[in-house]
Amino acid sequence: MPQPDYGLDAPKLVRRLAVRGGFLIAFAVVLYLANRNTSPGTAQALTAMLVCIGVGFFITAGFMVWSSRVAKLKLRDRILDGFSWRGDETVLDVGCGRGLMLIGAAKRLKTGKATGVDTWQSDVLSGNNPEAPLRNAKTEGVENRVKIESADARKLPFGASNFDVVVSSLAIHNIQSGPERAKALREIARVLKPGGRVAIFDTFHTSEYAKGLQQLGLTEVKLSSISLLWCLPCRTVTARKP
Ligand SMILES: C[S@@+](CC[C@H](N)C(=O)[O-])C[C@H]1O[C@@H](n2cnc3c(N)ncnc32)[C@H](O)[C@@H]1O
Repeated sequence: MPQPDYGLDAPKLVRRLAVRGGFLIAFAVVLYLANRNTSPGTAQALTAMLVCIGVGFFITAGFMVWSSRVAKLKLRDRILDGFSWRGDETVLDVGCGRGLMLIGAAKRLKTGKATGVDTWQSDVLSGNNPEAPLRNAKTEGVENRVKIESADARKLPFGASNFDVVVSSLAIHNIQSGPERAKALREIARVLKPGGRVAIFDTFHTSEYAKGLQQLGLTEVKLSSISLLWCLPCRTVTARKP
């Protein structure tokens, strides 16, 4: 059975950590072999220190892979199970990447539709392109409920009050400046229908999002507890448009 592939977050960083870990361990072994006869004590101590640092790099890389491949999938289901679904909702995933949230939402729909928008940055997610979420949707059997568009979170190509649910995972922190992130929040609030719900899972700026959504008039704004994934503090902000 083909399996969906939702990609690896920060693939270059994971590769860099693994390569540096390998290089440090190899260097430590060479250092030990070259010096074990002349200064065995120092060689042993230095080797042990370098191996520990190298293993630390490997463990961090492994934890990041686990965060992308295992933890994020469980977290996605927990976030989406937090909504009560009728099955006819219109859903928007902002920064959908390879379709993790988008397809999770589509699986909860019967007659509704899920739309994903993205700018397809390849440095933040491996294999990031518009075909990848469509391929995953086909593998998961929800291709008839999913639509993909290329668009920036700060300028969503939809009219006001279009979606019952807006979700976003690890996307908005990629927008560098606070005022620009605020634009994305304004767009999310604008395209939500009255009574619509939003869940933003992200790192670094989640308190800013909670405050921003409150200022935009959304109610029931809640911040989840922190989960440490990719060695970063991550939280989910949920809210409702009155
Ligand atoms: C780390 S990936 C996460 C993808 C997916 N949401 C997930 O959780 O697997 C971040 C995504 O946000 C997208 N992104 C970054 N800035 C964006 C923007 N201004 N507008 C739309 N998408 C953006 C990137 O192209 C990338 O696909």
